[in-house]
Amino acid sequence: MENYLGMLPPMGWNSWNTFTWDINETLIREVADLFVKEGYRDAGYNYIVIDDCWSLKERDKNGALVPDPNKFPSGMKALSDYIHERGMKFGMYSCAGTHTCAGHPASFEHEFDDAALFASWGVDYLKYDYCYKPNKVEGDLLYKRMSMALKNCGRDILFSACNWGADNVYQWIRSSGAHMYRSTGDIQDNWDSIKALALSQLGKECYTGSFCHNDMDMLVVGMYGGSNNDFIKAGIGGCTATEYTTHFALWCLMGSPLMIGCDIRKATPETKALLQNKDLIAINQDLECRGAYRITPQPQWNADEENFILAKQLTNGDLAIGFFNMGEGKRELSLMFWDMGLPYSSDYALSLYDCIEHKELGLFTERFAPVVEPHGCVVVRAKLVRKNA
Ligand code: GLA
Repeated sequence: MENYLGMLPPMGWNSWNTFTWDINETLIREVADLFVKEGYRDAGYNYIVIDDCWSLKERDKNGALVPDPNKFPSGMKALSDYIHERGMKFGMYSCAGTHTCAGHPASFEHEFDDAALFASWGVDYLKYDYCYKPNKVEGDLLYKRMSMALKNCGRDILFSACNWGADNVYQWIRSSGAHMYRSTGDIQDNWDSIKALALSQLGKECYTGSFCHNDMDMLVVGMYGGSNNDFIKAGIGGCTATEYTTHFALWCLMGSPLMIGCDIRKATPETKALLQNKDLIAINQDLECRGAYRITPQPQWNADEENFILAKQLTNGDLAIGFFNMGEGKRELSLMFWDMGLPYSSDYALSLYDCIEHKELGLFTERFAPVVEPHGCVVVRAKLVRKNA
């Protein structure tokens, strides 16, 4: 089946987490080259996105946005051509308010002209932020307006809304026309941030789906404290390899877009293997895009917020199941299959495949109870099979 614009959670790379203001065309070209050479493009990551700080601080005399000539001397059209020639797509950034969050001119009351300009540059994706929005103007109207401008600019441009889960966005974002929307505040490169963002999404599985995906923010996988920005670094900054694995597994199961945020030129083999984990990506990119639901591990008296199971119904009848230990001690997380609707009397068992270790675990009836390391996870793909086949 054809992948229509925004049908599945978008995948790609975004400049913000590592580089913030310090971006230029050489960097973007290097990332594009590496995406091809190192297999990221073929793993599904096809949007290369420039975030904030790409323009001059003033529009030109005709009111047009101007790329900073020191950062992008060849211009945006040349850069988008470069990315397109390598079989990928080009993303840019603006904001619904008068200024971007870093204080550059933004698209408030310039929506239709800016959309036309982006289209003329060959832009395929627009991230649209929420800073400097006039207080008395409703946010939903501004996203509807930009969506209308993009859908009529003569080019397919994926619309990535970014209002951080504010102003009851869940109620109006799908009808606004956006293909994805930030459902969280900004991520930081540390465990507390990953944990807080993930916990904030539990119970919101009804707000994600095809053509309008909940965006839990760009990935910090593999950054290891490498941001040039103190907020993103969050003090010392960085996570362990286990924590990055749990982060990636959560974003995959929860259907978030997968936008890489690390300096891909410095990625370790472990980072690359995690970002290109085919089994986890397949869960994220499942055709039906169903939200994952939470199951409380048994026994219930031992339950707390920090330990949970997520189950996602997949198109072919399999289930993706993640066991997450967000707490500080090793823990057995016990899943009774009837908590997913499967009765013992059904004559079915589950054949489990470990999506992180990439191995078959065998046939399980009634329950599966992995022991999970602190800040760790186990993710399996479960197939229903006859017990006595
Ligand atoms: C906001 C967004 C971030 C990033 C910055 C850029 O904070 O949420 O993702 O785009 O603005 O200034």
